[in-house]
Amino acid sequence: MESQLESLRSRMMSEISSASGLEELETIQVRYLGRKGSLTSLIRGLGALSEKEKPRIGRLANETKQSVQRALREREQELKKKLSGSRLQDGLFDVTLPGQRPRVGHRHPVTLTLEEIIGVFAALGFSLEMGPEVETEYYNFDALNIPADHPARDMQDTLYLNSGLVLRTHTSPVQIRVMEKKRPPIRMICAGKVYRADTADASHLPMFHQIEGLMVDREVSFTDLKGILNLFVIRYFGPRVKTRFRASFFPFTEPSAEVDISCLVCQGKGCQVCGGSGWLEILGAGMVDPEVFKAVGYDSWKYAGFAFGMGIERITMLRHGINDIRLFVENDMRFLRQF
Ligand code: PHE
Repeated sequence: MESQLESLRSRMMSEISSASGLEELETIQVRYLGRKGSLTSLIRGLGALSEKEKPRIGRLANETKQSVQRALREREQELKKKLSGSRLQDGLFDVTLPGQRPRVGHRHPVTLTLEEIIGVFAALGFSLEMGPEVETEYYNFDALNIPADHPARDMQDTLYLNSGLVLRTHTSPVQIRVMEKKRPPIRMICAGKVYRADTADASHLPMFHQIEGLMVDREVSFTDLKGILNLFVIRYFGPRVKTRFRASFFPFTEPSAEVDISCLVCQGKGCQVCGGSGWLEILGAGMVDPEVFKAVGYDSWKYAGFAFGMGIERITMLRHGINDIRLFVENDMRFLRQF
């Protein structure tokens, strides 16, 4: 029995090491270790041995089986490695085929709009200013003529932090910060994130972006505001788009206006997008209120100014016909890749 085991083992070992392919290796495995294989039947025959010999020969048989299995696995790895190497040499693998191009990202549509608008106003001599997103109630409200008991605070209710701090509800506080630091003439725009206690839906997000503009000088009039915003509309939306100023109210401008553009979908005839009116609202604007000048120590008899503010997502949506503001924050590549 012992010598039978030994000769089986050496035969298997030499067959395994000379096997030249995976199929051949499998045939060897079946021939010796399969259900009717020769090593298998030998092990089955162990039951006929005497009680004295059984443990010793049994152990030997097990060892034989294990070493053969290990040899099979090792040879399999060797053969596989060889195969993948030769595939290159045989030309089965075409090294001249183009590889998989890694996808290169690009700027977000909000950033693209921002840069375009900054470009329009930079050409008109407006500098770019920045302000904090965590603001004091003073800059966000009081200095802009929105006292604590003013109903306009409700319209822009925000996320309050501790001790008189809020997440800014608009970029208008940057007007105050810039006027506190500089004397007229001032021509500035400012861009950034703003926050409101709104639930996200197709037209609201609790965080979005605004662009603010401010011009202050000795002889700035409503005409300048109209001229500059008209120019902006033509540059951003195209030469055939018309602009309309509608009387409105903001505590920090007087008089105030909301600016509409002729509907981009129906060219002003009236459709579903513009609710039949032919106009789409794009921004708020007005002449700086004397109360605001008082807060920053400007003489409102000497200086006049205008300000405007608009939502970046909103104008991007209007220009491109995007119907849900949430698309800007969902990171859906099918949307983002289109810009
Ligand atoms: N801050 C206003 C808003 O968020 C917009 C605005 C800015 C209006 C400047 C007038 C002047 O609604």
